[in-house]
Amino acid sequence: MLSTKLTSLVLLASAVNAEYWIFGGLKPIVTTRLDPVINPNTIGGHVHSVVGASRFKNVYDPDDLIQSNCTTVPVQPDKSNYWAPQLYHRDQQTGQFTPIPTSFNIYYLVRPGPKNESIKAFPPGLRMIAGDSNRRTYNASSFEDQAIDFVCMDFTTDHSGDPDWAERPSFFDHNCPDGMRAQVFFPSCWDGVNLDSPDHKSHMAYPIQNFNSGDCPDTHPVHLVSLFYEMIASVDKFDYWGPGTWVLANGDTTGYGHHGDFTNGWDVDLLQDALDNCPNANGNVMDCPPLAAAIDQQSADACVLETQIVDEEVGFHAPLVQLTGCNPLWNGTTGPRPLCTANATTATLVPAQISLPTNWTEIGCIAEGTNGRALTGASTTTPNMTRAVCVSFCQEKGFGLAGVEYSDECYCDHEMRNGASNTTVMWNECTNHCAGNVNEICGGPNRLTLMYTSNPPSLPIETLPAGWTALGCVSDNSTRALTGYGFTSDEMTIDSCLSTCASKGLSLAGIEYGRECYCGASFENGLGAPIDEATCNMVCAGDSSLTCGGSWALTAFQSNNTAGAAPSSGSGPVTTSSAIPSSSSMDGSVTVGSSTAATSQTSSSGPSRRNYSPRGLGRL
Ligand SMILES: *[C@@H]1O[C@H](CO)[C@@H](O)[C@H](O)[C@H]1NC(C)=O
Ligand SMILES: *[C@@H]1O[C@H](CO)[C@@H](O)[C@H](O)[C@H]1NC(C)=O
Ligand SMILES: *[C@@H]1O[C@H](CO)[C@@H](O)[C@H](O)[C@H]1NC(C)=O
Ligand SMILES: *[C@@H]1O[C@H](CO)[C@@H](O)[C@H](O)[C@H]1NC(C)=O
Ligand SMILES: *[C@@H]1O[C@H](CO)[C@@H](O)[C@H](O)[C@H]1NC(C)=O
Ligand SMILES: *[C@@H]1O[C@H](CO)[C@@H](O)[C@H](O)[C@H]1NC(C)=O
Ligand SMILES: *[C@@H]1O[C@H](CO)[C@@H](O)[C@H](O)[C@H]1NC(C)=O
Ligand SMILES: *[C@@H]1O[C@H](CO)[C@@H](O)[C@H](O)[C@H]1NC(C)=O
Ligand SMILES: *[C@@H]1O[C@H](CO)[C@@H](O)[C@H](O)[C@H]1NC(C)=O
Ligand SMILES: *[C@@H]1O[C@H](CO)[C@@H](O)[C@H](O)[C@H]1NC(C)=O
Repeated sequence: MLSTKLTSLVLLASAVNAEYWIFGGLKPIVTTRLDPVINPNTIGGHVHSVVGASRFKNVYDPDDLIQSNCTTVPVQPDKSNYWAPQLYHRDQQTGQFTPIPTSFNIYYLVRPGPKNESIKAFPPGLRMIAGDSNRRTYNASSFEDQAIDFVCMDFTTDHSGDPDWAERPSFFDHNCPDGMRAQVFFPSCWDGVNLDSPDHKSHMAYPIQNFNSGDCPDTHPVHLVSLFYEMIASVDKFDYWGPGTWVLANGDTTGYGHHGDFTNGWDVDLLQDALDNCPNANGNVMDCPPLAAAIDQQSADACVLETQIVDEEVGFHAPLVQLTGCNPLWNGTTGPRPLCTANATTATLVPAQISLPTNWTEIGCIAEGTNGRALTGASTTTPNMTRAVCVSFCQEKGFGLAGVEYSDECYCDHEMRNGASNTTVMWNECTNHCAGNVNEICGGPNRLTLMYTSNPPSLPIETLPAGWTALGCVSDNSTRALTGYGFTSDEMTIDSCLSTCASKGLSLAGIEYGRECYCGASFENGLGAPIDEATCNMVCAGDSSLTCGGSWALTAFQSNNTAGAAPSSGSGPVTTSSAIPSSSSMDGSVTVGSSTAATSQTSSSGPSRRNYSPRGLGRL
């Protein structure tokens, strides 16, 4: 990996052994049609892949940006944003566009020229762009054009000397087995006065000798650190069918119109400290003590956008029929940039994180239970999981607690179970982005993002029939605590079990595994002793708002109203020793299993228990 990163440096570097460091493998904080430099206070012209600070928005406000909660850059005091046009794959048959996943490597290069000028940190409030979205040609003597180029990566075959594979100013005409790098080298000379300029360029300049090194011109005498970044696009995940396969979000099929933008959000003193005091930094941030001390990869992983996005699909869920923002394909050979033929859409901004239903609040990141799941009342998984999707699911079922985990899993309950508590752990321990919205977090490894409502839905929790009282969770095993009668049902509720036991004249009832009801006049075989309530952690097959026992654990009830039907002496009307008949049916409507049948079919992980052995259990 390092050698491929260095490839570009070898080609770029005139200053050998110069100090530099790389922030590598950065994930986008957002992919949306905003550009605070070119289109402040409005919607942008095309979709960008943006990395960096979590308060990226359609206006650059340096004081606000540095207040960002976090950044996808591992060195958290760098609250800058770095962006480039999203690269799309165009399907040869349908003409539709799919965004190609990207990551970024950001280089900070200390490149004093022959005059050995001192290198300065970016001043607070500095913004700049490199490249030109409307360029479709290449001027080999222009530093600005030289500053944009592409590398085709193949880690297994050496293509050195082959011009078809050499670093070049436009897209390749073949696929790249390990992805393509779209590269931008920013001008490093500042006029010392203006933090921006009308074209967002003229306050900056390339050095005299070269685009990537040299002395600064007199017009732009302040030599800033050189900024260079690689957007790595996984083009290898898609087929290559010829020119037009790859399209930048601005409609460019050539690559010449690639560009990059930067808004400074650094702790400027820290950046200057790093520039001054890391002479031996040779790419690795760890070789620069002031930066190494500020590395926090977990916060970078857990970071999500705090602000707003444009309310439109950018193609991650389904291919786009046309590029958003009206960007017709244009390679420059067909005259001026074509006008937009599509109807103008009025895009709006919406919060990046989908808000929770009324009366629900996020508590935060919590640890899973120590003996099992924290929330066992009901669960679901869906590829469109968000915090709000989970809350709606739990609310509908009458639960007041909802938790999301592993990006796409949702759990509900009335209370925290299995040793879990609602005390939050560090926010950055929840690092899984929601499957249905990459801009919000849905738990982490063995961590739940927990939501609750102080106003839980008023569904009946446990209204017992007259005369019945709850005994709580009691012990059972394969010799059975209750031997008078039994049945299993996929529609099991507490009511259906109690009324059946009452009809048999039996005063004790117990339910386990969510769908098995047992009746008796007394507890048998030394069983029926109270055990930890948390062991009864399965919902009723016929009503997921109710608890119906657990594994070898009965949710038990006792009636005071069976005296007439069930003589208190003896073992009651059901006197057969094989108390639970092994015949396949009884009463016509319910299935009765022998205890062994119940054990093998129901107490094991049969399909009827899928509700409470959700995917992911094995990952606990
Ligand atoms: C912001 O950071 C704080 C901790 O510093 C954390 O509690 C909070 O959840 C974060 N907010 C977001 C939206 O990430
Ligand atoms: C350049 O200047 C720095 C101090 O700013 C000094 O440490 C270094 O030795 C100089 N390098 C050369 C090649 O003169
Ligand atoms: C190419 O770039 C050089 C250097 O910036 C400039 O002088 C020249 O006019 C450019 N040529 C064209 C055709 O734009
Ligand atoms: C440029 O685009 C036009 C129109 O789509 C196409 O006919 C032409 O072949 C393209 N030229 C190149 C060099 O790709
Ligand atoms: C633009 O909108 C009009 C009316 O809504 C519709 O009839 C027409 O087909 C649309 N044109 C395009 C290119 O989508
Ligand atoms: C939210 O809670 C309030 C007060 O507890 C209640 O009056 C209101 O009906 C609740 N709204 C919804 C939509 O549940
Ligand atoms: C999520 O997907 C399911 C189908 O898998 C669908 O029924 C549901 O409406 C979707 N929810 C949202 C919020 O898109
Ligand atoms: C957290 O749990 C405690 C005790 O179980 C409870 O009193 C408190 O209200 C809960 N807090 C929230 C925010 O749900
Ligand atoms: C049975 O319990 C109910 C309450 O569940 C009570 O109202 C009733 O008086 C009791 N009956 C007897 C005979 O104890
Ligand atoms: C069931 O539990 C009873 C009481 O603890 C015990 O004596 C018996 O050996 C157990 N039977 C089985 C099969 O585990």
